[in-house]
Amino acid sequence: MMNIPTPHIEITDLDKIAKTVLMPGDPLRAKFMAETFLENVSCVNTVRNMLCYTGYYKGKKVSVMGSGMGMPSIGIYSYELYQFYGVEQIIRIGSCGAYDSNLNLFDMILADSAYSESSFAQTLGIGKKQILKPTKTLNTKIKNKAKKMEIDLISARIHSSDVFYRLNHDDYLKILARKCVAVEMEAFALFANAIATGKKAACILTVSDSLVTHAKTSSEEREKSFVKMMELALSLI
Ligand code: HPA
Repeated sequence: MMNIPTPHIEITDLDKIAKTVLMPGDPLRAKFMAETFLENVSCVNTVRNMLCYTGYYKGKKVSVMGSGMGMPSIGIYSYELYQFYGVEQIIRIGSCGAYDSNLNLFDMILADSAYSESSFAQTLGIGKKQILKPTKTLNTKIKNKAKKMEIDLISARIHSSDVFYRLNHDDYLKILARKCVAVEMEAFALFANAIATGKKAACILTVSDSLVTHAKTSSEEREKSFVKMMELALSLI
């Protein structure tokens, strides 16, 4: 059993990390969230600039940490948090590209499953799986909260891709056949680690671009739409 600190997180006191960690991909988004929403907040990790903040939201302790991009990156951080830091649940809050022409920019999606071509689950040791589910009870809680806050949340399967720049666009047809409405690059590994460690995970995404219409968002617009998702995620703790 590894002791803390772990190779990628420099926290030596378990009090410095909350049981719930909200995980945007971008560490600067974690900083923005901490500065915008949290009280009594301190930065508890700077290793590789993968910033982690712990503070209080409406009196409840919460941590916000960047995951980096892609499954290897979120795989490392989420595993260390679950296995060595006593973290009980991680909620990824990210962006995604729409595959489905019915999706609009800034729509909010709750992943009800993640499909991936990745060997992450098999290599981790939980079996040769290509579709993984988040924690059912956590998803139910998120759906109920969204309803209360009058936030439209679309529950659907998403695609966790290892490759952002693809040469073979016919591949999208295969992925569409799996009924994925949008693409991102992390949820599958997060769900795999939650399953492996017996912890909880969920993934909320906002649509930042469309692979159908090629519509894109500005960084300012993305920040604004992120705020709504952050408020939903924070209301869960
Ligand atoms: N591909 C993969 N990940 C993404 C995308 C995309 O188009 N948009 C936001 N995250």
